[in-house]
Amino acid sequence: MGKTIVVKEHETPIYEIRIENSYAHFDEVLRQLKIAGHRVCIVSDTTISKYYMKDVVEIVKDYASLVETFTLQPGEEHKNLDSVQALYEYLIQSKFDRNDFLIALGGGVVGDLTGYVAATYLRGISFIQMPTTLLSMVDSSIGGKTGVDFAAYKNMVGAFKQPKAVYINTSVLETLTPRQFYSGFGEVTKYGYISDAPFDAWLQENVEKLIQKDSEALAHMIERSCNNKRVVVEEDPTEKGIRAILNFGHTLGHAIEKMMDFQLLHGECVAIGMVAAAYISQQRGMITEEQLQTIQNTLEQFQLPTKIKNLDEKTLIDITKNDKKMDAGKIKFILLDGIGHAVIDPTVTTDEMLAGFRYVVEKGE
Ligand code: GLY
Repeated sequence: MGKTIVVKEHETPIYEIRIENSYAHFDEVLRQLKIAGHRVCIVSDTTISKYYMKDVVEIVKDYASLVETFTLQPGEEHKNLDSVQALYEYLIQSKFDRNDFLIALGGGVVGDLTGYVAATYLRGISFIQMPTTLLSMVDSSIGGKTGVDFAAYKNMVGAFKQPKAVYINTSVLETLTPRQFYSGFGEVTKYGYISDAPFDAWLQENVEKLIQKDSEALAHMIERSCNNKRVVVEEDPTEKGIRAILNFGHTLGHAIEKMMDFQLLHGECVAIGMVAAAYISQQRGMITEEQLQTIQNTLEQFQLPTKIKNLDEKTLIDITKNDKKMDAGKIKFILLDGIGHAVIDPTVTTDEMLAGFRYVVEKGE
């Protein structure tokens, strides 16, 4: 039995997140969106495409007047304006107009890039998110942040563009590499820390089931994560305020991701960043030493790193200060004021950030 979450803006329903364990109900989404008679381009990458493109094309071709596929090379290094340009050219050649649709079938890179093309091609066309990684299911496919990297800057060019639907087939998690799977827990556990303490407790009780990919436990976990994200993005769709709490662990996490030249996955860097931010919170007396330890233990149980080799501190701080999470020259750092309650704090000093970073550096390096 699938689940549906409705995402609203100012009380008006904008799109549905469907959580299913197959693609069997995707046709219902296509009918709901009145895709019949329109062109559809399914964007994916070579890794995902070989598993699922055929299945999705089979369903879409019964509705669309034309089904095109566009396949990127996998990886963050292809999330750039060159790929955007190649997709624009392809859509122009295939005569896509404003009433046609894009489908993003893949992880965060495919979703963010396809969304950005959907936001800008002909000043905006419709798109559907079909996330295939745990991380994109629980985070990047929801809330309308789209974009690409520019030069060395992550997500520097982008737009807010809400999808017409998000369709999650949880069974695709079977083909995910263990490392990619666990990386998603960086974002899943985050929801417990920032806004949902009972979910944090549930995750701790269900580690074994989740690692074994028990389908009921996974579906519950994904639904609860999506709902947590929904609540925040409904309140603040364009990150004028509260949405920034979703960046817990991301300030130092992004800097580490960049300094490691993307050798660590996003969720892995977020895990390390969350421990550093939790340490700063603990030093300020906002969480206890025991809570800090529990955060670390939980992340480790989900096979996530909580330590990093020593990196050049000056570069780390410089990158952090150039990050988008700045407001009038101040870093909007996210701290925990108890488990399940994040706060945006512009007063975190360079010394505190350094102390947080030193806490996660592997000793003896
Ligand atoms: N991933 C953070 C956000 O969507 O705001």
